[in-house]
Amino acid sequence: MLLQIPEVLSADAVAYFRKRLESADWVDGRVTAGYESAKVKRNTQLPEESEVALELGDLILTALEGNKLFISAALPSRVFPPLFNRYGPGNGFGAHVDNAIRQGLDAETRIRTDLSCTLFLSGPEEYDGGELAIDDTYGTHHVKLAAGDMVLYPSTSLHAVTPVTRGQRIASFFWLQSMIRDDGQRTLLFDLDRAIQGLSADLPDHASVVPLTGIYHNLIRRWADL
Ligand code: NI
Repeated sequence: MLLQIPEVLSADAVAYFRKRLESADWVDGRVTAGYESAKVKRNTQLPEESEVALELGDLILTALEGNKLFISAALPSRVFPPLFNRYGPGNGFGAHVDNAIRQGLDAETRIRTDLSCTLFLSGPEEYDGGELAIDDTYGTHHVKLAAGDMVLYPSTSLHAVTPVTRGQRIASFFWLQSMIRDDGQRTLLFDLDRAIQGLSADLPDHASVVPLTGIYHNLIRRWADL
């Protein structure tokens, strides 16, 4: 499932992020790339241990904890601390698949990457190119969202960032391990949850709301690992 999550950050929050990121120290993005992806990656990043990255990353995680659409779609178990990247003219990231396992700075932060997230911090009017191109069974999707919006997609996908030809594309990117490892099962649960939410909003006293909610939770019980 490929899902856009609007307004993860407010306009005020985006402005604060941009101000903090302007004065930060950026390094070559190949520091977090695997052997194959390093060959096709051209951008800059904040180092993982950067104070700015840690501060802003925490703000993103707090925003996501309160985001119902994100929780319903991702059913997160563990989220990797968000990282930040910047693509200027001539930068891009060729087709690659993200590493399956991500080791954080401390020993406990090791996750299986089930879902990849890109949170846009530059508006589409600020740069040309720089689209996130994600392949799935229905073809290639080109994603370029408003500042503050996020896209969530399976980490199994082949994806690329097309070359930037003008301006700067600044984003946060990170991965998460879901309680539901399988994308198909997770998508079914998301669809079921949305259908139940719709039914209970329109017909709150409908006799099927409780049993359907029971089915939702019993499927999670069957499929989840924590
Ligand atoms: Ni990637």
